[in-house]
Amino acid sequence: MMNVTPGSKVVLIGTGAVGSSYAYALMNQGICDELVLVDLNQEKARGDVMDLDHGIVYAPSSIQIRFGSYQDCHDAALVVICAGAAQKPGETRLDLVTKNVKIFDSIVTSVMDSGFNGIFLVATNPVDILTYATRKFSGLPKERVIGSGTILDSARFRYLLGEEFETAPTSVHGYIIGEHGDSQLPVWSSANISGTPIAPKLTEERKEEISTQVREAAYKIIESKGATFYGIAMGLAKITRAILKNENVVLPVGAMLNGEFGHEDVYIGVPAVINRTGVKKIVELSLDEKEQGQFAQSVKTLKDIQAALWK
Ligand code: LAC
Repeated sequence: MMNVTPGSKVVLIGTGAVGSSYAYALMNQGICDELVLVDLNQEKARGDVMDLDHGIVYAPSSIQIRFGSYQDCHDAALVVICAGAAQKPGETRLDLVTKNVKIFDSIVTSVMDSGFNGIFLVATNPVDILTYATRKFSGLPKERVIGSGTILDSARFRYLLGEEFETAPTSVHGYIIGEHGDSQLPVWSSANISGTPIAPKLTEERKEEISTQVREAAYKIIESKGATFYGIAMGLAKITRAILKNENVVLPVGAMLNGEFGHEDVYIGVPAVINRTGVKKIVELSLDEKEQGQFAQSVKTLKDIQAALWK
């Protein structure tokens, strides 16, 4: 295994709605044995630590949860970044980019100054661009910088298909790939239930309706409750478990393409094998012609933003 920091210490940077929900999921699922919370709003973060600590007695396994600083990253196995400006009603994820790239430059530099030698997991939006920025600012190998990618979009896709076919979403297999945003695309050509293709059972109109429901889910949730946090927290916990338990499980995360699917130099949602070294390898789904075109468009959307930021 590469010389990545061992152990299961996680440092969470940003204890807003997503970060605190993720911390709660880690404790509830017994995924790590040490969790350090870092946030500019120290009072709030300290309150979260106390609140979480009072639940440990009922957690499935022991965990140390405390407030800390960037210095705590020096021996962390994983640093998870949920900090940044949040999406507002009607705002696209890409609208946030300039604000959050500046914030990330400061955060990633502070983490690296601690001597961090672990894996980054990025959740802040626009997550694909900010994962690319994290790799750029940190200088770490691409496999050790992972974005949440389309982990949540794919969960939404599987949930909706489960409802459609009265089947548990865990038995529905399908991916949303591309930008975690408006240019994402469902891979209908490989969606299946127990190996039985789903696409032939749906009209084009119904497929479009389901794809739109997935793509617009965040906007609807933000309109009704101001933010989304439970679904993404569960996805982040799943990725964390895959890393810390060296699971070699395939998950739709934000990974850096280096020729896969015919594209390179872009972080984007694709299925990848995740283990203790980070992204072990990207799984190149076979895409039909329409899906290849949509994916290329999604790559272009992200690379146009990258070019504007770092021309
Ligand atoms: C969403 C946020 C996490 O899709 O971007 O709910």
